[in-house]
Amino acid sequence: MPELRFEPGWLLVEDAPEPAEQIARSTVFALANGTFGLRGAPEEVPASVQGAKGCYLNGVYDTPRGLLTEREFPNLPDFACVWVEIDGERFDAAASALESYRRELDLSCGLLRRTVDWRTRSGVRAVLTFERFVAMHDANLAWLRVGVAVDRDCRLRLESGIDADVTNRWADHLKEVRFSQVGEAILCLAHTFDPGHQLAEMTVQFLAAPRAGELETTVDAKRYLERYTFELRAGEQALLLKPVAVHADRFARGSLKEACRATLRRALQDGWDRSLARHRRSWAELWERSRVDIEGDDEALLGIRFSQFHLLAAAPYRDARVSVPARGLQGQDYYGSVFWDCEIFVFPFYAYTQPQAARNCVGYRIATLDGARRKAASLGFEGAYYAWQSQETGDDQCDRYVFNNPITGEKIRSYFMDEQIHITADVVHAFRQYAEATGDERFWSEGGAEVVLEAARFFASRCTWVPERNRYEIHRVLGPDEYHENVDNNAFTNAMARETLLTALDLHARGLLRADERDAERWREVAERLYVPEPDPDTGLIEQFDGYFALRDEPIEQTNRRLAHPDLHKGGPLGPFQETRNIKQADVVMLLYLLRDRYSAEVKRANWEFYEPRTAHDSSLSPMAYALVAADVGRTDWAHRYYLYTSHIDLGAYGPHWNHGVHTASLGGAWLAIVHGFLRLRLAPEGPRLDGWPLLPESWRAVEARFVWHGRPMGVRAEPGRVVFENRSSEPVCVALPSGPAEVPPQGRLEAPFGVP
Ligand code: BGC
Repeated sequence: MPELRFEPGWLLVEDAPEPAEQIARSTVFALANGTFGLRGAPEEVPASVQGAKGCYLNGVYDTPRGLLTEREFPNLPDFACVWVEIDGERFDAAASALESYRRELDLSCGLLRRTVDWRTRSGVRAVLTFERFVAMHDANLAWLRVGVAVDRDCRLRLESGIDADVTNRWADHLKEVRFSQVGEAILCLAHTFDPGHQLAEMTVQFLAAPRAGELETTVDAKRYLERYTFELRAGEQALLLKPVAVHADRFARGSLKEACRATLRRALQDGWDRSLARHRRSWAELWERSRVDIEGDDEALLGIRFSQFHLLAAAPYRDARVSVPARGLQGQDYYGSVFWDCEIFVFPFYAYTQPQAARNCVGYRIATLDGARRKAASLGFEGAYYAWQSQETGDDQCDRYVFNNPITGEKIRSYFMDEQIHITADVVHAFRQYAEATGDERFWSEGGAEVVLEAARFFASRCTWVPERNRYEIHRVLGPDEYHENVDNNAFTNAMARETLLTALDLHARGLLRADERDAERWREVAERLYVPEPDPDTGLIEQFDGYFALRDEPIEQTNRRLAHPDLHKGGPLGPFQETRNIKQADVVMLLYLLRDRYSAEVKRANWEFYEPRTAHDSSLSPMAYALVAADVGRTDWAHRYYLYTSHIDLGAYGPHWNHGVHTASLGGAWLAIVHGFLRLRLAPEGPRLDGWPLLPESWRAVEARFVWHGRPMGVRAEPGRVVFENRSSEPVCVALPSGPAEVPPQGRLEAPFGVP
């Protein structure tokens, strides 16, 4: 993929249209505000072009009728459609004669701007400017503005409105679409199939032009378009302004029409300039708390800016009924479902910098506890087993047959839903981290403790007592490495299950969780006698699961070559990986990062070296773990390499399918690599702590991160030989340095030298 340019520090620039990269670029340039997302495809691209355009409302799902019945985010009608025509020639960046082109995304505020200098066949030189933002200050508002300036007299036609000729990639979710005129505004009401959601979009379009022209309106079953035609003289400019309200019945108060009206009323009172100023201010406040800076390495800086931008865009600031889907609100891959990607990879960024968004992620798991209970019961277990693929009810949307065998056409039984039980432990892990980083202990009584209680019950019932070995074991699971199915005693799963039981016992001891003594006794017994694969005393290696070391050892390329068909799932009994030691993604290494206090540096080093050449990184969740453990054991070069890998995953070529939406886990991993990895910062209940002196890749002159500890905004900066903490709150904060505790005064700084500068 041709490179995007980074103009430090905030502009991401595309210097030529890249129609062949349409899907990937629409992801890179997507905008969102936690409530809804809008893909970055150019205005003139028809909504019917598969995969380019897209608008998704968080928390709204639909099951379509017909052959393909995947439950997913419905793609909303396209309001980002504007066509410019000069002297009968329609503008299309991919085909028109352009003197210059620039598309830039301002990462500081989510303003997308495209400017082209177009030479028409009639000889007019027209400068077109397309701008848009999805309002961060007003949950259901977006704005578009299109400007046209010409150097000769011409006939200009601008066409714009709402185009409901949209589908998702595999299905059509809009059962019924109705347009109407409400005063000056266009209202589009759409119904989905199941559940029958009502979705609404409303816009009022304004044309600021030097003289009046004709206005025609075309309405058919799929579109409502207004077409303005007028003369534009040399040196003049025309401007089309388009505020849009987007609402769904699941969240709107009162009627959808009224909700849209209220949103538009606010937008119109402000106008473009004031609305944009408010939007910028909201973004500035987000960056104020979350910002990371790197000096001396622009590639690394771009990686973190881009990652943080999309994570801030996808964060659920306003509602605890929604969380962060694996591909954010920036695309429809993975159906808009929430996976462990949120709790383990994305969530810490919010817990450390945007506590309200973190609280909502936690709230989402509390709100979907009943779904998790139903899943556990349906599989014959107690407690709660969270959905592998979660949507609004918490019932699992993951099918038992995810793949087809491309050779025989048969469906392949897969076990993501029934066996990837670590998801429940991941939720509990995030809950504990939330309490530690934010100091919010109240949430335990607001449903948090109940989740832990049900999670502990689940693991206690899911373990098997094996009398001949005098221990509990966990059989038939899928660890993070999804290529090895039906394995016993996956180290990651068993260790995380034990952590869950210990967390439940800890909360019980502190009186925060009300379990009866029988439950607590059982958890204690299982936690004590649960087999967790330990490092081999000679080699330090942890066996990923029972029998893993007996598997065939061969280079990954060799395993890939044995794949019977390019579209065949690589794991399970039909794929070539299952019988080898090669794995899809970090598994033991992920454990060594998550429970890093429990393992020595030697163990981390030995396992990193063993598993690294055996990891295919066929999941975007994988490189971050290798960055983090490399940083933990002081391998700065590898940490840097894997940090770039994880932070640039959506900026590089990753194949069109995989680019429908941002890889939120990988982006969260980039932030983790910096904060937990290079800076070695941890937000503990007693205060911020450095687990070691920070580590700086060779080219970095400094790295700095903002965070919020227990409501107090702070920052930490590392330079070679020096760490500086900044306390931007009015209370002192105690930090634990490797050299001992120290206090950062209110509104003050603390400087600590280390090592040889
Ligand atoms: C990975 C999972 C991940 C999912 C969604 C899969 O390919 O193996 O670990 O949760 O994608 O990102």
